[in-house]
Amino acid sequence: MKKYILMSKKISVILIAFFLIGCSNDKTTLTDNPGTDSTTVPFLASDFSSAETCKSCHPQHFDEWSGSMHAYAVKNPTWLRLREIGQSQYINALDGACSPCHSPIGLRSGDIKWGPLDVEALDPVSREGVGCDLCHTITGITRLSNGGIDFAPSDTKQGTIKDPVSNPFHTSKYNDLYAESEYCGSCHNLKNSDGVAIENIFGEWRAGGFAVTGKTCSDCHMETYTGPAAVDGPDRTLHRHDFVGVDFALTPFPNRDKQMARVIERLQSALSMTTSAQTTATAGQNYSFDVQIINDKTWHNVPAGTSFNRQMWLSIIVKDSAQNVIFSSGQLDANDDLMDRYSEFPERDSSLFNAQATLFKADGTEASLWDAATISNPSIVSG
Ligand code: HEC
Ligand code: HEC
Ligand code: HEC
Ligand code: HEC
Ligand code: HEC
Repeated sequence: MKKYILMSKKISVILIAFFLIGCSNDKTTLTDNPGTDSTTVPFLASDFSSAETCKSCHPQHFDEWSGSMHAYAVKNPTWLRLREIGQSQYINALDGACSPCHSPIGLRSGDIKWGPLDVEALDPVSREGVGCDLCHTITGITRLSNGGIDFAPSDTKQGTIKDPVSNPFHTSKYNDLYAESEYCGSCHNLKNSDGVAIENIFGEWRAGGFAVTGKTCSDCHMETYTGPAAVDGPDRTLHRHDFVGVDFALTPFPNRDKQMARVIERLQSALSMTTSAQTTATAGQNYSFDVQIINDKTWHNVPAGTSFNRQMWLSIIVKDSAQNVIFSSGQLDANDDLMDRYSEFPERDSSLFNAQATLFKADGTEASLWDAATISNPSIVSG
């Protein structure tokens, strides 16, 4: 295994009438395997089985997956809208554009084409986004970004059970790729056509965390429990399929409240924070305190992935002995927005610390994922 040097793990925020933010955030450049998406046999979406077919024998896996963001990947209204905006502004700037990871079956079968998308008219398998039969017919990784997965319709479903009992519907095959982070990495690393690492979760994990803990994506995002893998099957070590991260569905969706509760629980223990402050203050003199946030639980940055869509900020309120607020930062405006450039109101929070990334065009103006030339990313590095 290759060793990587750990990047800085600390970010300090010091208040001395104003904030200084110190954060070292060198990025590791990934070398991608420039392999191609090799769909050697043309297929139809209907050559795959819908999750509904798996449900009868794998009800627990179905229930968990059906509330996951993987099941939401095509139904997600923000994906649909951003895809529409993207298509009005660029021509194929990301290879295959928005579907290689959100619906690989829809894209490669031709079910999802360039142009307006009627989700209801799609084949159920394309509409399932990142579904059972896609994930369990992956045979290899061709490239560690932009959905470089090899898969084709097959009666053989692959996983990490070495001695699967037989069933009348499919054959089973052990494949150790399914326990590796590379399996997740090709979809969880997004580069645009300028080579800008827009989403770099796998890259961050490879550069930082793995060298320390050896923990893979599924160790943290597919927690283990004991039970039958299929109805009437023997008890096994199973893996949760709700893939809890930071998101939950914006529209009515199965298990939404449960998913939201799991997300909140995860976020409440995602970082360690310590503060130290002077216990007394003297009128007319500076008052200072330190806040230290350590990312010691994720082994990728926080926030990660679409870090340009994620806001994580420090909320600070300093009161005097009579409980009057003498300083605050990270408070919300009347629209519940941070008082930064997204606020509709003129007031600005000049002390705000927000770990959200920003994408820029070559001319320095703000960009979207398809036209970004650089990324400024203050998210907190793991270590
Ligand atoms: C490399 C694979 C890949 C490609 C290509 C891709 N996405 Fe995604 N997308 C992801 C992954 C993985 C996530 C989840 C990341 C996270 O939550 O941090 C995601 C999440 C999203 C979200 C939800 C994020 C949020 O804040 O709610 C939207 C919206 C989205 N993508 C839109 C798009 C659009 C539009 C395109 C095309 C311009 C696109 N994606 C292309 C992999 C991809
Ligand atoms: C008729 C029942 C039945 C149906 C339908 C079914 N399975 Fe299975 N599946 C089983 C049984 C039984 C096992 C073996 C469980 C064991 O050995 O503990 C299994 C095992 C698996 C495994 C583990 C393979 C391994 O070796 O690690 C995967 C993955 C899987 N099924 C996926 C699917 C998917 C995806 C679908 C839907 C396209 C599906 N199954 C539909 C009964 C079924
Ligand atoms: C040691 C445990 C751990 C490991 C290993 C890990 N994660 Fe995470 N992951 C977390 C925690 C905790 C969060 C919530 C905090 C955050 O947003 O980063 C998270 C968040 C995420 C998110 C949502 C990020 C966002 O802010 O939008 C995605 C997507 C994700 N992880 C994917 C992965 C992938 C892919 C891998 C492997 C390359 C991986 N994780 C490895 C613990 C882990
Ligand atoms: C994002 C990809 C992905 C999706 C979607 C997905 N799986 Fe899995 N599944 C995996 C991986 C990876 C493992 C093995 C995890 C490990 O060993 O670390 C697994 C394991 C399994 C197993 C073996 C038992 C276990 O829990 O380890 C079964 C059965 C299974 N999945 C069925 C399904 C069914 C049914 C669906 C849809 C309802 C589904 N999976 C959706 C990736 C996926
Ligand atoms: C075929 C591409 C693909 C593969 C393979 C894949 N993912 Fe994803 N994943 C996505 C997309 C796309 C989304 C976001 C969907 C959305 O929000 O619209 C996502 C979302 C997630 C989220 C939720 C992110 C959030 O912000 O809440 C987690 C966690 C996650 N994936 C973990 C994994 C892990 C762990 C693996 C490997 C076992 C994996 N994924 C394999 C495409 C993939």
